[in-house]
Amino acid sequence: MAQIIPVKVFDMVVFGATGDLTLRKLMPSLYLRFRDGQAPAESRVIAAARTPLSEEDYRAKIADALHTFLDESQRDEALIRQFCAALRYVALDGVSGEGWERLVDLLATEPERVRVFYLATAPDLYGPICRNIRKFNLITPLSRVVLEKPIGHDLASARAINDEVGAIFEESQIYRIDHFLGKETVQNLMALRFANAIFERLWNADVIDHVQITVAETVGVEGRAEYYDKTGALREMVQNHLLQLLCLLAMEPPVSLDPNAVRDEKLKVLRALKPIGRAEVGSHTVRGQYVHGAIDGKPVPGYATEMGRPSRTETFVALKAEVHAWRWAGVPFYLRTGKRMAQKVSEVVVQFRNVPLSIFPPAVSDLEPNKLVIRLQPNEGILLKLMTKDPGPGGLRLRPARLDISFQKAFNIVYPEAYERLLMDVVRGNPTLFMRRDEVEAAWRWIDPIIEAWADSPDLPRPYPAGSWGPTAAIALIERDGRTWHEDWDNGEG
Ligand code: BG6
Repeated sequence: MAQIIPVKVFDMVVFGATGDLTLRKLMPSLYLRFRDGQAPAESRVIAAARTPLSEEDYRAKIADALHTFLDESQRDEALIRQFCAALRYVALDGVSGEGWERLVDLLATEPERVRVFYLATAPDLYGPICRNIRKFNLITPLSRVVLEKPIGHDLASARAINDEVGAIFEESQIYRIDHFLGKETVQNLMALRFANAIFERLWNADVIDHVQITVAETVGVEGRAEYYDKTGALREMVQNHLLQLLCLLAMEPPVSLDPNAVRDEKLKVLRALKPIGRAEVGSHTVRGQYVHGAIDGKPVPGYATEMGRPSRTETFVALKAEVHAWRWAGVPFYLRTGKRMAQKVSEVVVQFRNVPLSIFPPAVSDLEPNKLVIRLQPNEGILLKLMTKDPGPGGLRLRPARLDISFQKAFNIVYPEAYERLLMDVVRGNPTLFMRRDEVEAAWRWIDPIIEAWADSPDLPRPYPAGSWGPTAAIALIERDGRTWHEDWDNGEG
């Protein structure tokens, strides 16, 4: 049974309060936590942005957003009215310090509360906003600051931001969010690995042939074209979400669930990633950009057409990563992610090696190696592919069968949005599912040479039709090694 443990009363100041993230994710998640009584009713959400808006207009905007981004089953009109009526809106300039007085006055009435500053802005504003938070004396012992990803656009800029924020807040007060870590099924990777003896003992190069991590989306760049074009899929998705998944899959068992014990193990994986430099970038990475195609039978324009100009930004990345550690010697991790792909699916595939020797005649049974598929979204679940005897008479013939657990069916729940969990963890003061400074920097240290090699190369991202599985070069990347991408998402074959 799900348990709702209320958090302490808090004040949360959301900077970037008119932005896409606030409307799409933060406000709907906060509404749901208030609705379920986990966020105590006296808590306050103070929205701050540059746009001069009346409080009434801001509340109407959020009411609209809740109607757009919440499912019908999640909406309760009376509760939406109550949530919006309690919102405060402060028009201020995060950089110049103009308009902060009202924020100061509002916060001054509750100096003892947990105080969260959520920076849902561009990363170059993190430093200036934090300096103003300090200048206006808003930091209390129970204050925390939340930074959205990506932290910077390379190692140097990430360090500069971490230094700026770190000069104002203690590391223990800084919550670097990677919302993938808040997804229930991502946390389930830890449960699967460390709460079941059967997997952990097989979790190594002796038994595992390779691992695939796919995060495919059907959406395009939505309302974020300007931001996306400067960022691209490698910085947007691989530097954080996909590498965090890789860490959870590859790390050694932490000594406990203590936040630093878990993060120490993830850091070791990031540090053990074999660098991909100029010499390897051609054989180990593929970048793509969608051209016109169709999603669900509807025509979709290409990325450059949407941008109104040619662009070198990648909307798809596939790469082969290697973890230089005894456990993973010779086991490649194939990662791929893209916008406008054939299907929305996030999935991990652990491909085991075949039996060392088959005693079955090849004519009747082609032995397929075991495969563990962990579906992160949608249709969250786990599927284990096994060889079994084909039932009935006709001799001993084998065929693959699947052990298939759908979490939704098994537990009869709808998974909460990752942000709901993470926002409450910030209030609780639990940083386990947030990235520590050294993790973020280690991830950039591995990503930077790939970005540099791409920038130096005359090649453009390879085109792929919207609604496909990416450029053919991504298929070649894995097939060169005699392997194939797992593709039949619905029935787990492939
Ligand atoms: C975000 C990226 O971090 O993750 C988006 O900025 C992407 O581009 C999103 O669409 C995917 O997250 P989810 O939770 O929808 O799978």
